[in-house]
Amino acid sequence: MIQAAIMGFGTVGSGVAEVLDKNAAVIARRAGEPIELKYILDLRDFPDSPYADKVIHQFETIESDPSVRLVAECMGGVGAARNFVRRCLAAGKHVVTSNKELVAAHGQELLELAREHHVSFLFEASVGGGIPILRPLTDDLGGNVITDICGILNGTTNYILTKMSREGAAFDAVLRQAQQMGYAEANPAADIDGHDACRKLCILADLAYGRAVLPEQVPTAGITSVTAEDMAFAAAAGLHIKLIARAKQLPDGRVWCCVSPHLLPGEHLLASVDGVFNAVLVHGNAVDDVLFYGRGAGKLATASAVVGDLIDCARHLDRHKDIGWAAGDGSYLAPVDALPQRWYIRTAGAPLSGCTVLPAAVPGQSACLTPPMPRAAALELPGSAPALSIFPVLE
Ligand code: HSE
Repeated sequence: MIQAAIMGFGTVGSGVAEVLDKNAAVIARRAGEPIELKYILDLRDFPDSPYADKVIHQFETIESDPSVRLVAECMGGVGAARNFVRRCLAAGKHVVTSNKELVAAHGQELLELAREHHVSFLFEASVGGGIPILRPLTDDLGGNVITDICGILNGTTNYILTKMSREGAAFDAVLRQAQQMGYAEANPAADIDGHDACRKLCILADLAYGRAVLPEQVPTAGITSVTAEDMAFAAAAGLHIKLIARAKQLPDGRVWCCVSPHLLPGEHLLASVDGVFNAVLVHGNAVDDVLFYGRGAGKLATASAVVGDLIDCARHLDRHKDIGWAAGDGSYLAPVDALPQRWYIRTAGAPLSGCTVLPAAVPGQSACLTPPMPRAAALELPGSAPALSIFPVLE
């Protein structure tokens, strides 16, 4: 019997308890012995929960109990979570987490601490919810130079964009639905402003390229600039609007990263990824394209990935899983204009010359797709009347 603790009994933490309970037999078979949930750390009490007797309020109870070998951090944030994870690793406990903010900002430090204490720090659930992506990226695709990672990495925004596009739903109402379904962050600005997708992209880029890519180094735009007019032009042209996070290795070796709404042709592999689903399209120089698809957010999907990491740790209790990346100053990152792209530009009035004009969809407005060019050049195209919207096209 291996004892485990969960820190944080919100959406993900309660899902982890449920999966450990519901799938106990199969988990025991795969882990080599049963994983028993001993403690649940939270500030609150949960008198109506079947796990009420496991709830504790003092972190030190976990830290000082040597029988607890596995800890799942599901608190979120980088304050107490970072402190508790550090102390668990230092106490010789394996830690798994769904906390992308923590991994994107402090992953390197925590992986080094794990190495020092000969335990593992795993975070499959931090990217793509239930999609297995980090382990395949580092293990199964380990023989490849990764040249492109392109993904829909935020379930909340994909849910909102899908509902806006299919049903003409209002942004605020759909956001409330996403919150009720447990998809959104505690502060949903992290979702809609693109920061959550950016953090996940950083983790993917860290692992794929071996050097730290920090969220503040990645040009990031969210979905608040996407309007009903953009949806109308896209629909009339058979295009889809998705929040895309991309890390691409340029021929000179630099890595180009960006998070932004993109226009996708209907036949693009990511165009039909709808609702809370996420997908990550990875290009390796040996394997070619590989597509990972699944639920990107939600209680049980995310818990699935957390429990997978717990099983991995349980199977290698006396070993340290050596993953990580080097520190860096960002000098290997390319500026946003280093990758020429086609651009969707919506303007008031006549279409821009030299561009492919999209079918009319909104009275008094036009939209077009530019030839490939840097963003700075595209911004100048409309001349004195600024663009109403400008987004890159993913081809
Ligand atoms: N808020 C996140 C999302 C949760 O919507 O994708 C999963 O990381």
